[in-house]
Amino acid sequence: MINTNNVLHGFTDLKNLDSLGPIVLNQAKGIYVYDQDGKKYLDANSGLWNSVVGFDHPRMIETAKKQYEKFSGYHAFFGRISEPAVQLADKLIEISPFTSGKVFYTNSGSEANDTTVKLLWFINRRKGKPNRRKIITRINSYHGVTAVSASMTGKPYNSEFGLPLDGFLHAACPHYWKYAEPNESEEEFTKRMGEDLENLIQKEGPETIAGFFAEPVMGAGGVIPPSQGYFDVVQKILKKYDIPFIADEVICGFGRTGNLWGSQTYNIQPDILIASKCITSGFFPLGAVILGEKMTEEMMEASYQAEEFFHGFTAGGHPVGCALALEAIDIIINEKMIENVRKLEPLFMGALKKFEELEFIGEARGIGLMGALEMVHDKKTKKPFDGSISIGERVANQCIQNGLICRPLGPSIVLCPPFITSEEEMSIIFSTLDKTLRKVFSEVKSLG
Ligand SMILES: Cc1ncc(COP(=O)(O)O)c(C=O)c1O
Repeated sequence: MINTNNVLHGFTDLKNLDSLGPIVLNQAKGIYVYDQDGKKYLDANSGLWNSVVGFDHPRMIETAKKQYEKFSGYHAFFGRISEPAVQLADKLIEISPFTSGKVFYTNSGSEANDTTVKLLWFINRRKGKPNRRKIITRINSYHGVTAVSASMTGKPYNSEFGLPLDGFLHAACPHYWKYAEPNESEEEFTKRMGEDLENLIQKEGPETIAGFFAEPVMGAGGVIPPSQGYFDVVQKILKKYDIPFIADEVICGFGRTGNLWGSQTYNIQPDILIASKCITSGFFPLGAVILGEKMTEEMMEASYQAEEFFHGFTAGGHPVGCALALEAIDIIINEKMIENVRKLEPLFMGALKKFEELEFIGEARGIGLMGALEMVHDKKTKKPFDGSISIGERVANQCIQNGLICRPLGPSIVLCPPFITSEEEMSIIFSTLDKTLRKVFSEVKSLG
């Protein structure tokens, strides 16, 4: 047995961990991972949304080997750059919604969001608008964990760090099932979401807002697709006040919603696009800020004035990461992964929706290959379970016992299987989940 006492786990119930112990994973094949005792788990969460082409895709392994042999690592400061980093920037612009632009490399999604905020501050200061610094995101959104990206994240746990920082504002969450008022139609709800945003902008002063960041589908907030027409309404308001729209595509990017970008799925025309996760399918830490035409122009103007953009990460644009990203993108596009997401979507969503027949499933929701089941104590009133029941954790822990990895997110269970999942594997996911839910729900019922 490996001693893991020296590891400090993030996003983990540490008391629970003391009694349950960690799961040490050493191997993987396709969409399965294996622990140190050889127990096999189907990972219905693609690692953390990212391992979508399979944990052992031979082309990815070969690419890493070749790139390490050729040029094992270099930075992107002082105008230096490796060939794969140049090629990846070309590829990202080519597949982005922009006709031209620029790419800035980071090691993670958090750093990409953080970088973008600094970039907006930098541009505005050089444009003579130093007070245009406020950032709007939404309640329940997730944008990362650095001090800035955690300030953008709309989760209450960030108060543990005394966050958000000043000037980070959270508009209402467009989750119709949860936040609609009695008898409010979805159309009326969307309209109210727009009014909430516009009121916030007016209250703060439009001239003080630097940007609006949104995930096309909120991921770590519990897989929350926007209410009908939400982004049309939002984009109109942002245009009116000349506020840049930054699409945080860290989860949605590269096929998760059934299109290359979540922005395509929701007809979003972003000014900047944030990418990470699937960009290397989990084979390397890499994030990218992709600037559209207008932001590129403004950024270059500010940088010429200041002489440089005083920002960068030692390992940003790492040649191995960039070579792996080029390969992952090629696999996703040319091995028809997005087509597979679309083909599986009806099966996936149909099976999820069927769980709404169960007594404690309040809502089954999702799009593409991202979905969630939200559990409630009382379906009619949507009354949640008592926190002490830890319903999400219970289901996820029982899934683990049954060889299935899915993620608890508050009262919800999240599923985001890899893009290579077969129909047969999909039916294993849902039969295991069915067995698990029925067992946990009968236990919970006996608790009263
Ligand atoms: C939408 C979104 N943005 C940003 C991040 C942060 O990315 P990272 O964990 O790579 O810092 C995440 C992580 O899950 C995310 O889901």
